[in-house]
Amino acid sequence: MSLLYADKTILLGVCGSVAAYRACDLASQLAQRGATVLTALTKSARQFILPASFEAVTGQPAITEMFSPLPAPGVEHIAVAQRADLFLIAPATANILAKAAHGIADDWLSTTLLATRAPVLFGPAMNTAMYEHPATQANMALLKERGALFVGPASGNLACGSDGVGRLADRDDILDAVAVALHKDKDFAGRRVLITSGPNHEPIDPVRFIGNRSSGKMGRALALEALRRCAQVCVVSGPVEVKPPAAAEIVPAATAAQMREAVMARLDQCDVVIAAAAVADFRAEQVSERKIKRDGNKRTLTLAPNPDIVAEAAARKRPGCKVVGFAAESHDIASNAAGKLKEKGLDMIVANTVGGDANAIGADTSAAWMLMPGKEPTSLGCIDKTSLAKRIFDCIRELP
Ligand SMILES: Cc1cc2nc3c(=O)[nH]c(=O)nc-3n(C[C@H](O)[C@H](O)[C@H](O)COP(=O)(O)O)c2cc1C
Repeated sequence: MSLLYADKTILLGVCGSVAAYRACDLASQLAQRGATVLTALTKSARQFILPASFEAVTGQPAITEMFSPLPAPGVEHIAVAQRADLFLIAPATANILAKAAHGIADDWLSTTLLATRAPVLFGPAMNTAMYEHPATQANMALLKERGALFVGPASGNLACGSDGVGRLADRDDILDAVAVALHKDKDFAGRRVLITSGPNHEPIDPVRFIGNRSSGKMGRALALEALRRCAQVCVVSGPVEVKPPAAAEIVPAATAAQMREAVMARLDQCDVVIAAAAVADFRAEQVSERKIKRDGNKRTLTLAPNPDIVAEAAARKRPGCKVVGFAAESHDIASNAAGKLKEKGLDMIVANTVGGDANAIGADTSAAWMLMPGKEPTSLGCIDKTSLAKRIFDCIRELP
C-alpha cells in the first residue's frame, strides 16, 4: 500500500457506539497508508473497545483521559489540536455531535475538538430515531454550516435490531472521505462534473452478455479528485468492480444505450464531462428473450454499432462545457488519439495503452498521453490512476 499520508497526523476520535470496534480497522488502514494515527477514546467508547487495540495497530498511545494521568507531552489536547491535519470522529455519537455543535468541552475529545483548526470529519452512527431527532439534525446542520464534513451514516441493519439509517458508513467510504478532506482544494467549487465509468454489459440473452475488462478504477479516481476539488460529481457507472465514491451521485447504466441516455439527460447541467467508461462499441443486434440452448451447431452473433456517447456530448454540449474523452489504443497511440480528438470535437483526450505489458484496462496504472487541440501530445509515462486524475483536472482547469 502506498504511503499516501506519510506526512499526515490524523486524530481518530472514537465514541460510545457499538460500531466502535470498526474504528480499529479504520485506524489500521490509515496507519498502513503512512499516517501518524492518534486515537482518543471517550469514556463510553472504552465500554466497547480497549485502547490497547488501537495502540497495537497504530503504534501510538491511545488517549483516554484529560486528567489523572495527564496525557504525555505531545498528546495533550492543545498539542494534538495544533498538530493534527485531520480530526476524524468515527463512530460519532449523537452526544459528540451535540457537544461539538454547542462548544461543550467536558472531556479530552470534545475539548480538543474545540481547540483545533484542522478539518473535522464526522462519521455518525446511531439508532434511526436518534439520528432523525430534530436535535441531532439541527446539530449536524450547524456543524456543516461551520465547515465540518460528514460521511454517512449508511442505511441497513442496526445493532438495536431495526433496519434504517444510522449505520456507520462503510470503511472504504470513510477512507475516501478522509482522502478528500486531507487534500481539499476549491478550484472546482460549484462546477458540475459528470464522469462515465466502467464497462458495459450488452445482453445476448437473459444470462449472457458482451463485456470488457474495465474495472471502473479510472472513473473512481477521477470522481475522488473532482470531490477533492469541491465539484458536484455525478458518476454514470457501468457494472464496475470498484464502486465510485459514495459522496458522488451514482447513476447505474449497464448498456451503452443506458449510459447515453443518462449522459444526455444531464448534459445541459454539466460544466465538465469526462468519458472514462469503456463503452461497448457494439451490441448484439438481436437479444434473445430465452436462454440460447447449446445444440452442437455453430452460432453467428451479429453485432450492431453503439452510439458514440462522447462525440454526441461534444456536439450537443452547452457553451463553456468541457468534454474530455479517453482513447484506449494498442498501437500508434498518440497519432490515433489525435485523430479521435479532432473527429469527435473534444476539448481534450487522454490516450492510454491497452494490450502488452502496459495494459491500462483493469490496472492501477496507465501509460498515458494527454492531447489538446493545437498542442503537442504530452507523454506522462507510466502513471498511477490517482496521479493521472490529478493531472487531468489540472489540465481541464487551464482549458481555454
Ligand atoms: C449498547 C449501547 C450502544 C450504544 N450505541 C450508540 C450509538 O451507536 N450511537 C450513539 O449516539 N449512542 C449510542 N449509545 C449511547 C452512548 O453511548 C451514550 O449517549 C454516551 O453518553 C455517549 O458518550 P460519548 O459521546 O462520550 O462516547 C449506546 C449505548 C449503549 C449502552
